[in-house]
Amino acid sequence: MDSIAIQGGARLNGTIPVSGAKNSALKLMAASILTDQPLRLTNMPRLADTKFLGRLLRELGVEVTENGHAGVGGEEQETLFHAAAIRSTFAPYDLVRQMRASFNVLGPLLARTGEAKVSLPGGCTIGARPVDLHLQALTAMGVEIELDEGYVIARAPKGLKGAEIEFPFVSVGATEHALLAAVLADGVTVLKKAAREPEIGDLARCLVAMGAKVEGIDTDELVITGVTSLGGTEWPVIADRIEMGSYAVAAAMAGGEVRLTRARPELMQALTDKMVEAGVEVTPTADGVIVRRDPALRLKAVNVATEVYPGFATDLQAQFMALMTTAEGDSVIHENIFENRFMHAPELARLGADISVHAGEAVVRGVEALHGAQVMATDLRASVSLVIAGLVAEGETTVGRVYHLDRGFERLEEKLGACGAQIRRIKGEDHEH
Ligand code: EPU
Repeated sequence: MDSIAIQGGARLNGTIPVSGAKNSALKLMAASILTDQPLRLTNMPRLADTKFLGRLLRELGVEVTENGHAGVGGEEQETLFHAAAIRSTFAPYDLVRQMRASFNVLGPLLARTGEAKVSLPGGCTIGARPVDLHLQALTAMGVEIELDEGYVIARAPKGLKGAEIEFPFVSVGATEHALLAAVLADGVTVLKKAAREPEIGDLARCLVAMGAKVEGIDTDELVITGVTSLGGTEWPVIADRIEMGSYAVAAAMAGGEVRLTRARPELMQALTDKMVEAGVEVTPTADGVIVRRDPALRLKAVNVATEVYPGFATDLQAQFMALMTTAEGDSVIHENIFENRFMHAPELARLGADISVHAGEAVVRGVEALHGAQVMATDLRASVSLVIAGLVAEGETTVGRVYHLDRGFERLEEKLGACGAQIRRIKGEDHEH
């Protein structure tokens, strides 16, 4: 397993191009199952997660062709998905357990073929993360569901039927899943209390470009009128607001001036507001944002609470916690989306942070300095928070289990290194993870 070593203390100065969003790309890829025409996704991030899903799609019969070269920026990177015929409707445990988003092939397979057998994704380190809302939505659309030895066996012998579905609470995955199924259903589907994360808007707009009828995009009520078939299209994956936010926090932590390009700063407004409150300068530009912090100034502690979009993203909570470790004063951080998403706290403590966690609340008491140590990440966003802390920790910080980072950050060490970070990857042996 690779690890990443960071020598703390370097300022960040330079430009970082933001990649296409992992959490949009994965759902757009699943949409390719819905049509026998090619779907060309541009601005495609090349990540371990998109590779995993590509492997599953190939198993199902989708032709996956990667084009373009891997330059920082990704604009030339595109992938063509062509599901001319579905060869298999079976998504095995081994391919689904590695990445939860694989479960979202269930709806499109049902919509396209009327049947599917897909493994349940299983638990993960950030909480139980069940899929009950996904299954309830599909059941409401006329799908017969049976659970057998860890698999969902689903049939829609008469096709999917439009339905009115009110989610009991907001779920990104369930909203996307229901949307992916509803576009080919017979009749109108109304999704109430729908999630409105920008990646859902991106998926809905791509589906519309493929011929779907979706109203209420970016609101909490989606109205989908089923059509009989969809066509192909070319679609640019939306900018990754979590990658953008992570580098914004990195710049704020290290001090200096970083220009984020190909970015959509309005999609991280909740983070920006908190950074500004803490003392960071954030200036929008024509194609992104400049994040600046005078290294001589100590940031002020501020409180955050994670919420569904447009609130403060849970996927930025770990990074913000890292930022608060050296701020002046106490910061109270509430995690409201996942029940177990503070695993980075004890690792940050190994670097000298003072954090106490009680249930969904963490109190970070700012310290003067962090000190390099060996740390280990347990999930993707936790990993990047350790890298961010390592940027200022005195001496060397080594972050283990980098495969978590590779799931969602494209060429991280290259992007940070280009701005002056003293960061390098240490190649290790490959292990099963
Ligand atoms: N939930 C249920 N039942 C369901 C579905 C969700 O109880 O059927 C619960 C979850 O356990 C969680 C809450 O509802 O407590 C919210 O989960 P949601 O469905 O909104 O999240 P998700 O679709 O599983 C996506 C992202 C996550 C991101 C969350 C929240 C993808 C592939 N994943 O997960 O991203 O944290 O939305 O914004 O889009 C990441 O990229 O590192 C990541 C974890």
